[in-house]
Amino acid sequence: MTLDSRSPLPQQDPEVADWLLREDRRQAATLTLIASENHCSAAVREACQSRITDKYAEGYPGKRYYGGCEIADAIEVLAQKRALQLFAGAEEANVQPHSGTTANVAALLALAGPGGRIVGMALKAGGHLSHGHDKSHTGQVFAARQYGVRPEDGRVDLDEVRKVCQEHQPKVLIAGGSSYSRNLDYAAFAAIAREVGAVLMADVAHPAGLMAAGVVPSPIGIADVVTMTTHKTLRGPRGGMILAKKAFAKAINSAVFPGGQGGPLMHQIAGKAVAFGEALRPPFRDYQQKVKDNAAWLAQCLLARGLDIVSGGTDNHIVLVDLQKTEVTGQQVEERALAAGLSVNKNAVPGDPRPPMVTSGLRLGTAAVTTRGMGRTEMEVIADVITGLVRGQDPERFRASIAALGEQFRLP
Ligand SMILES: Cc1ncc(COP(=O)(O)O)c(C=O)c1O
Repeated sequence: MTLDSRSPLPQQDPEVADWLLREDRRQAATLTLIASENHCSAAVREACQSRITDKYAEGYPGKRYYGGCEIADAIEVLAQKRALQLFAGAEEANVQPHSGTTANVAALLALAGPGGRIVGMALKAGGHLSHGHDKSHTGQVFAARQYGVRPEDGRVDLDEVRKVCQEHQPKVLIAGGSSYSRNLDYAAFAAIAREVGAVLMADVAHPAGLMAAGVVPSPIGIADVVTMTTHKTLRGPRGGMILAKKAFAKAINSAVFPGGQGGPLMHQIAGKAVAFGEALRPPFRDYQQKVKDNAAWLAQCLLARGLDIVSGGTDNHIVLVDLQKTEVTGQQVEERALAAGLSVNKNAVPGDPRPPMVTSGLRLGTAAVTTRGMGRTEMEVIADVITGLVRGQDPERFRASIAALGEQFRLP
């Protein structure tokens, strides 16, 4: 539990303390299969709750608008240095973005300019809101066009990407997604970008950790700019980061600050530095290999039990279950799963006729349960539960076995 006996919080604010304690218990008792979540280490959490949260450090190391920034400078430089070690071949790192969305907006403003043309993967095909969706600033501030995936195999159709780019002539082509379970051919994206004179931006928010460990292909050295979140497979604190080739770094730095943000969240940057340090140590590679193996096995187990998986499997930590041939919606299975103790999220599948709050799919991710130490046997239990819930079995009958796994495999 987070709150120890020395914590002043329960005395001072019992209400918030109680909610936080309940969240600890909820996470402990629930198996998190939400692909965008993970459990960061106690060391990362400690850095994030440190006193440096009080410090304003507008600007960049050595060029701040406030005094007293020498320690903030050291921490930010360390985070940048570790980021560049981790993603070897990257030229410049900006560790200040508060989130993946602010990283993307800043990068796009730097690369395309207001009103500039951009092309990204459609949300309903597996992309992210911040890749040009009309409800996002990226769809409102930029002239955005989107590419999809082939309905028959759920994979990106590079011919379609090329066609959309030739028609739209974007300044930025975005490669990356939120519920895309296959590797992307970054070299092919770069070739298309070159053909139309666009810059290639890869958003690796999801596979960042797998990529850092070398267990999936990396766009570093291929894409001009790489954006990511630090809290998914990378297993750091909530936040964003941008890696850029030198030629783009100045514009990107200005777009982050002063363009889109004020003072950086120094406590989160300290947490990023700790997480990058963890990721540079050998156990991180083993962890990422297990994340990937668990996802592949989970997909296989679900297929063997008769469920459909978009694209027939996975190359990363994501398994996208296609419920179109069943009687249930993504929303129904999400609710049933929660009642059984599994935290999952409903997700559109390619060509989904249902609205986003209902959907015909389920997105599963193995990063968090692998952090807890789970392996093949537990993936089989999870596959049994998901299949049972899809077939209409009572969630209650699975509660005890899920709770037992929660007891056995503790949070970090
Ligand atoms: C590919 C991708 N980019 C960006 C983001 C946005 O990250 P954040 O929620 O930190 O704004 C996400 C979040 O899920 C994502 O999947």
